Amino acid sequence: MTKKKERKKPQVRFKSLKGVQDILPSEIELWQHIEETSRKVFHSYGYKELRIPIIETTDIFIRSIGETTDIVEKEMYTFTDKGGRSITLRPEGTAPLVRAFIEHHLYNQSPPQKFYYSGPMFRYERPQAGRLRQFYQIGVEALGTEDPKLDAEVLSMLKLLLQRLDLKGLSFEINSIGCIVCRPDYRTSLKGFLKNKLHLFCGDCQKRYEINPMRVLDCKVHSCIDARGGVPRITEYLCDDCREHFESVKKHLNTLRIPYSINPDMVRGLDYYTKTTFEVTASSLGAQKAVAAGGRYDGLVEDFGGPSTPGIGFALGMERIVSLLKDGLRKIEPSPLFIASHGKEASEAALTLAEGLRSKGLVVEISYEDASLRSQLRKADNIGAKYVLILGEEELKKGKIILRDMETKKQKEIPIKEIDKFLSGSYE
Ligand code: HAM
Repeated sequence: MTKKKERKKPQVRFKSLKGVQDILPSEIELWQHIEETSRKVFHSYGYKELRIPIIETTDIFIRSIGETTDIVEKEMYTFTDKGGRSITLRPEGTAPLVRAFIEHHLYNQSPPQKFYYSGPMFRYERPQAGRLRQFYQIGVEALGTEDPKLDAEVLSMLKLLLQRLDLKGLSFEINSIGCIVCRPDYRTSLKGFLKNKLHLFCGDCQKRYEINPMRVLDCKVHSCIDARGGVPRITEYLCDDCREHFESVKKHLNTLRIPYSINPDMVRGLDYYTKTTFEVTASSLGAQKAVAAGGRYDGLVEDFGGPSTPGIGFALGMERIVSLLKDGLRKIEPSPLFIASHGKEASEAALTLAEGLRSKGLVVEISYEDASLRSQLRKADNIGAKYVLILGEEELKKGKIILRDMETKKQKEIPIKEIDKFLSGSYE
């Protein structure tokens, strides 16, 4: 007996970078399902797509996210291009979108203007489960009104999207982090609290204390988290306008029956936020549990040189949603139909039949090599086909085809002409 030769596994010469991943065909249907569902939900609220570039001048991120944030200080992919300009791979979408909003004078159209975007973002973070260096976001931004009804509507839209995706066990947390009117008082009080404990904080936080003390609240170093116990909370320092705004947001959320909790410690890691901030978390994800996050940024458009225009938005982390949905993958993929054939003429007829069924919207696979019926059925099983159409020379002569239910293994003969009728619905 001749021994079957073992196929040697080729050595992998090139690998993807750390924290960067390929999205393989076995997962792509899930990605497309999330993208398609998001699009449908966003459209029903009047959001339109705006495609932002992947590279931008570095300044826009420093100006908006803030010089003393982790993202700008440690995580940006910044390089000098051949023209000597400082360029950054976008770490997020809000700043580029606001830049585009001003550059194309979109503020001249009637407010609020509602946009969505999607694509890869880049942050040089320490990779771990749910934390990548290239990750995908789907985000929305609504510009042009301060009305707290919009805050509630944005959260309601996010809730509807997560529901449509059939995600369960999520928590909505909200906070208000004030505005330029109430921040100075809070800043004074915060500095007073930190002053005598400064030696307990990391070197970065000691710098932040001088330039941007609120960023100390966002530091993830364990000793800093411990030293922050009992820190004054911004919600106790809100000015009348911010307090009223926050009260109205909560009222509207109650009207819309959106369950939430208030997390006064949530300051978010980006400097542009004002008033409402929020995060949606899934505890099953472990340390990287935020699946979506966002908030208001009422000063950002003006800060970028545009007319005073309030804004609010959020971004979903695609990989985190994909990992929550992975178990449901089979449910989402439409089950393909496999056509098995034996004999030259039958295989020719199968080719035509497959084309006809595909043109009617069915997912159809055929066998390409002259394989035995057994191995064709094995292939059908591997691709998850629920039904197989079997066409042999004999059936072809009779103008019939065998329909095999892969689950029950039951077979019946049906006229080829009537396959259409038979397959409409769920092939029952
Ligand atoms: P963010 O909180 O930095 O906000 O990111 C939003 C979401 O992106 C996070 O909740 C998480 O799901 C995902 N994400 C962030 N970093 C990573 C990473 N390294 N790996 C995997 N997923 C990640 C923003 O980016 C704001 N632009 C959101 C926004 C829009 N605010 C107003 N409008």
